[in-house]
Amino acid sequence: MRLANKIAIVIGAGQGPGEGMGNGRATALRFAQEGATVLCVDRELGSAEQTAAMIVAAGGGAVAFAADVTVEATLAACIADAMARWGRIDVLHYNVGVSIAGGDASPTEITEEAFDRIHAINLRGLVMSVKHVLPIMRAQGTGVILAISSAAAWHNYPYVAYKATKAAMIATIQQVAIQNARYGVRANVILPGLMDTPMAVDTRARSTNRSRAEVAAERDAKVPLRGKMGTAWDVANAALFLASDEANFITGVALPVDGGTVINVV
Ligand SMILES: NC(=O)c1ccc[n+]([C@@H]2O[C@H](COP(=O)([O-])OP(=O)(O)OC[C@H]3O[C@@H](n4cnc5c(N)ncnc54)[C@H](O)[C@@H]3O)[C@@H](O)[C@H]2O)c1
Repeated sequence: MRLANKIAIVIGAGQGPGEGMGNGRATALRFAQEGATVLCVDRELGSAEQTAAMIVAAGGGAVAFAADVTVEATLAACIADAMARWGRIDVLHYNVGVSIAGGDASPTEITEEAFDRIHAINLRGLVMSVKHVLPIMRAQGTGVILAISSAAAWHNYPYVAYKATKAAMIATIQQVAIQNARYGVRANVILPGLMDTPMAVDTRARSTNRSRAEVAAERDAKVPLRGKMGTAWDVANAALFLASDEANFITGVALPVDGGTVINVV
């Protein structure tokens, strides 16, 4: 029970259509398995409710909450809801992120609308979540902020909005970490590599009219470690460690969970 008695908010705790498990859902489940009570936040309330129901069915504590990360007021509302229910917030985990589903493209093809949409979801939503949770964590004298960036922030990636916003998330978390260290608040960012999730594999298969198996095989071949994508559980386990007291002296870290992808420099 590495998160016994902790209150966690997972933003993006539902999951998109496709096979298998997404990073956000796996993280919410993992936090709950280790004793946390989880507010499962998502734009798709039904999807967040599914995650919460899975937690409750396994004997854990969870409540679903609808919020759109592009609307600051709904983020403030989810944080206020957690405070009203439980009186404290130990972990804020920001998982929401989009690339091709948001219309991402190369620098010569990107539109203003797509760039602004992806920026609002990936980066502004993180900043606005942090804005509302920090005063609470500072007053508590403790708290953990986690964000899901991407190894794409560091390696070659074809689309510009995802690349730019995921890189900016790392800088944002480092700033939050250093400015809040004296309050006992830790902030760390995870950089998943090629993961076998609905967001990455099923979305690509749909958008390129290829089979899921073909997209999965192409991604597997790019991974140095065992030639196989990681899973949502790999991200969830990294998040669990960083959220737990085992990571008590770790702040401002950008942790790749990528099977060696970012060190594969030739
Ligand atoms: N799968 C990979 O290969 C990979 C690699 C690197 C990074 N990542 C990152 O992992 C995260 C996503 O992981 P996932 O598997 O849980 O994806 P997912 O798409 O299954 O889940 C994301 C959830 O966010 C929700 N969401 C989308 N827009 C929202 C909004 N505006 N407001 C509130 N909720 C919204 C969706 O409804 C969905 O339930 C992203 O940040 C992504 O960039 C994934």
